[in-house]
Parts: sequence; structure tokens; C-alpha cells
Amino acid sequence: MKYEELKPWIQEIAELCQPQIVHICDGSKKEYEDLCALMVKKGTLIPLNAAKRSQSYLCRSDPHDVARVEDRTFICSKNSEDAGPTNQWREPLEMKQTLRTLFKGSMQGRTLYVIPFSMGPLGSKISHLGVQITDSPYVVCNMRLMTRMGKQVEELLPTQEFVPCLHSVGMPLKDSLKDVPWPCSKDKYIVHFPESREIWSFGSGYGGNALLGKKCYALRIASVMARDEGWLAEHMLILGITNPQGEKKYLAAAFPSACGKTNLAMMKPTLPGWKIETVGDDIAWMKFGEDGQLYAINPEAGFFGVASGTAMQSNPNAMLTIDRQVIFTNVALTDEGDVWWEGMTETPPQHLVNWLGHEWTPQSKEKAAHPNSRFTVAAKQCPVIDSKWEDPKGVPISAILFGGRRSHTIPLICEAFNWQHGTFLGASISSETTAASTGEVGKLRHDPFAMLPFCGYHMGDYFNHWLKMGLKKGVKLPKIFYANWFRKGDKGDYLWPGFGENCRVLKWIFERTSGKGQAIRTPIGYLPTEESIDTQGLVLKPQVMEKLLQVDREAWQKEIQEIRHYFTRFGNKLPQAIQEEWQQLKDRFNG
Ligand code: OXD
Ligand code: MN
Repeated sequence: MKYEELKPWIQEIAELCQPQIVHICDGSKKEYEDLCALMVKKGTLIPLNAAKRSQSYLCRSDPHDVARVEDRTFICSKNSEDAGPTNQWREPLEMKQTLRTLFKGSMQGRTLYVIPFSMGPLGSKISHLGVQITDSPYVVCNMRLMTRMGKQVEELLPTQEFVPCLHSVGMPLKDSLKDVPWPCSKDKYIVHFPESREIWSFGSGYGGNALLGKKCYALRIASVMARDEGWLAEHMLILGITNPQGEKKYLAAAFPSACGKTNLAMMKPTLPGWKIETVGDDIAWMKFGEDGQLYAINPEAGFFGVASGTAMQSNPNAMLTIDRQVIFTNVALTDEGDVWWEGMTETPPQHLVNWLGHEWTPQSKEKAAHPNSRFTVAAKQCPVIDSKWEDPKGVPISAILFGGRRSHTIPLICEAFNWQHGTFLGASISSETTAASTGEVGKLRHDPFAMLPFCGYHMGDYFNHWLKMGLKKGVKLPKIFYANWFRKGDKGDYLWPGFGENCRVLKWIFERTSGKGQAIRTPIGYLPTEESIDTQGLVLKPQVMEKLLQVDREAWQKEIQEIRHYFTRFGNKLPQAIQEEWQQLKDRFNG
């Protein structure tokens, strides 16, 4: 949308949604504080004990509005073909008609907030602008933590196109209805119009459905923009890694939701002398620079991290990041007015109020925190935030890492033979499902490039886009790797300790990108020799390294058939090069 269209659009939406007031957000601290105070008054936010966690709040959502709703998420391209078999498609005009009926009067009695925001540092050639309309003050406050928003972005709007993002919690405040702390609707629609680059989200207040800069824009719409303009919009963390000699590299890593991207991005390495610094924990936008390097920015300005399981042992830097100025959602409240969740401490407190607002003791059947409980916090609070995290140029990427949550078959780490093979590896990721989306947890599903819920167009075309990026002239392609921290032994125990110990794997990746590091060629890619993963100081059970790096022929025969079966979904949109890679993998096992 162009700047000239902004005012008429706001007016049109105001006429449709009939809010009581229109408020243009300036993004100031005062505005944030006033909105927090308003939500405290309404019972949406509970202020935490300032002596324990200053300027922080707890929010309890509606118990049915706790995660992304993939079955209510739609890609409304003109042709159903363009949405592809992994997305739900609806005819755009029909969908707009349905939504207009829902949005009609949906903001009655509420304030319509207008949030000008930038995805990425202001002034970066990789960044893009958006304007979100919402009737949720919770969304405004979260957007202030997660994006650059307000006056400074409003000033940029006349210079660039922006993506209009419309959001309503879908619960008008009619005279007869009492307001609730977390309004939402039973009817939920998270809708994307890729050609006109618009987002309409109705009925949910949950971050992934309602903070429209994040999944809806920075992934679903941006993946379409990236395809059209020759760049990459990916579900990836970005980190800087420095070796004991002071040499620094950056890598980007794609893992499905709630598979430890935040932990990896902020890792405290156990290997002496190594340093990890965070650029981003969820999304990477990447473009080739004039020097042929691939540069990445984090389009976000904050972390919307999974609280459950976060602890001083697993992610000390996240714990330090969230020691102040945080909005917690669906965690438990301690008697001292602080927060708690499963995994935070070894011994749970004797008494809590859980995420549902119920009295809780360690004997309770209910969870203390929802498994998808979250913290929202500004990235600049992270003690290991990278000095270049806001560099408009981005950071140069030397390696790309893919991964999934797999109990069996996939080894700890493997390096692709080349870009095309790496694209095949990304396309063949499967992972056990997590609580980040509604639906069954722990079920194995294919999640190509960890983008299954986030690719805004046909996944076959997306594979092709990746292949094309690798054919660009004069570019320095990052090396591609495939990791699995979650492999289990015969007794169901995790074989690899993970967390800070993952730096041992990153060390091997670092060495491989410098032309060092020992590897052996196997049918699935280059694997480290057992000695080339630095296990000094690590106590592992006998033969664990061997098991972690095992390429089990029988399991792979099944995996190969399974991948083929999955790929048939893409019909003639499956690129020839991906089919060839599949055939070659099969042949390497048979040869
Ligand atoms: C997230 C997700 O919140 O992937 O990052 O669901
Ligand atoms: Mn994510």
C-alpha cells in the first residue's frame, strides 16, 4: 500500500469496525505505560513484584487462545495452485466478504489503535514497513517490544510502501456484554492476501496470530516478496560465533517452533574461549550484497520466547534478559508476586496460582504454566546481544543450519555436499510437533525448512526459489548443515546433552567453513569423524558418539521412501533437482 492510501484505509476500517476512538500510536514509553496501566485496571495484566522483576506483567489469556491456529490460517492467492498443498486456500474476494461481515462492528466500544512499524532496523535496505490496526492494547504493547514502532516509522511512511495489517480480537463491547480481561472470538481467521500484500486477522489475541509483523508479515507475506525480489525470508535464528583466536563468523539456523532456536541463539558455550552472540532468535531476512556475501538481518526487535523449560541451566542468557521489563503470558504466579513455570527450578514452589488462575500445589493435576507460555521482551536487554544486531547492512552468513526434533535416524550433524543437496536436506526435514501450535504434540510431521506453517506460497515453488538462489552468479554460498539435538537411545533417553554443549557441534561447523575439521563422506552427506567433535570435558556414556553419528541403513531405507511419499504431494511443482537429489541419495545407499 502507498502512503496516499493510508488515511483512506484507516477511515474505511474505522467505518467498518465502528470503534469508539481512533488512536495513532507514537511508540513512546509513556504510551506503553499508560496502556499497561489501562490493562491492569481491566484485569488483563497483573503487575509483578517490582523488587523481584521490575516493570513486568503477567497476562492470562483465554484458555482457548494459547497458540497459533494452523487450521484457521489461510493463504488467499488468486489461484489455489499458488497456495499449494501445504496451505489452506480460499478465494480472495469470497474470503474478504466473509471477513468484512465479521469485522463489521467488531471494535464497538473499543479503541482502534494504528501502529506504524518497521520490520528490521530503520534505514536498512533489507527492512520493510507495515501498519497494523488493532483493537487490542496487549497487541500494541507487545508490538512495541517486538518491532520498531511509532513516530520514527510514521515519518518513513511517505518514502516507502507498507503492508497493511488488520487485526481485531473480534469481541465488540456492546452495552449488554461485560468486557473480559482477554477478549477473543470462537471464530478465528488468520488470513493472508499475497498478491495485494495484505493481512487480516480476526478473533485471536495470541502472539503468533495477532502480532502481525511476526509470522504473518515477516514470514508468510515476506516469503512471497522474497520470491519475487530474489531474497530469503526464513524461520531462522541468527548468531555470531567467535573462536578462541578471536575470529568471528555468523550462522543462520532453521528449526521448527519450540525446538530450541532461542536457546541456541543465546547459548552459553561450555567450550573454553568460544563466544556466542545473538542477532535474532526466530526470523532472518537475507539478501546477497554487492560483494557476493549473503547478509542477514533480524526483522524483529524483541523475543517472543517459550517460557516453559527456560532455566538458568538451559538458557542463562534468556533468564538474564527477562529479569525486568517483560510481559509474561500464561505462566504461573508465585506467592511473592513473581513468575514460575515448569523447568524453571528443580523444586517447584509449594504454592502458586497457575496460568488458569487456579490455586496450584506440586500435587495438582493441572500444569502450573501452559507449555506454550511466553515472554515478550526487548532484544537489547539480552546480555549477549551482538554488537551488529541492528547494523542496517546485516551480518555476513557463513553457514546455514537446518534441524528438527527427531528421536531416531537423523545424526547429530551432517554437512551437505553442496547448495543443491542442502536445499534437498531443508526440503526433507521432519520434526515432532510441539505446543506452539494447537493440535497433537509429539507427532512426526514433515516441516520443510521449518517453514511448513509459514510459507506464503506453493512449497514446490519455494524449493525452486532456494535452488535459484544457489545459481546466482558471483555469490559466495554459505555451507549448509543438518543437525538433530534430540536423538534418543534404546531406553528413550536423549543421547546428546544439548544446550551449551551444542557449541561443540558449532565448533565443527565453524571449522568446516574455514576448510578445516575432519569429515567422512557418507550416503547422506559429510559427517564428522568421531574425534573431530570436541568432547573434551564432556562425560558421555560409552559408544554414544558412535550412536549419534550412526547412519542406520535400514532406518534410512524407510526414511527415503517416506520422503518420496511426502514429495509426491507437490506434483509437478517438485523441482527436477530435488527429485535428482532424492534419486542420488537412494543410489548412494544401494551403490
Ligand atoms: C514462534 C513459533 O512463536 O514459531 O516463534 O510459533
Ligand atoms: Mn518461530
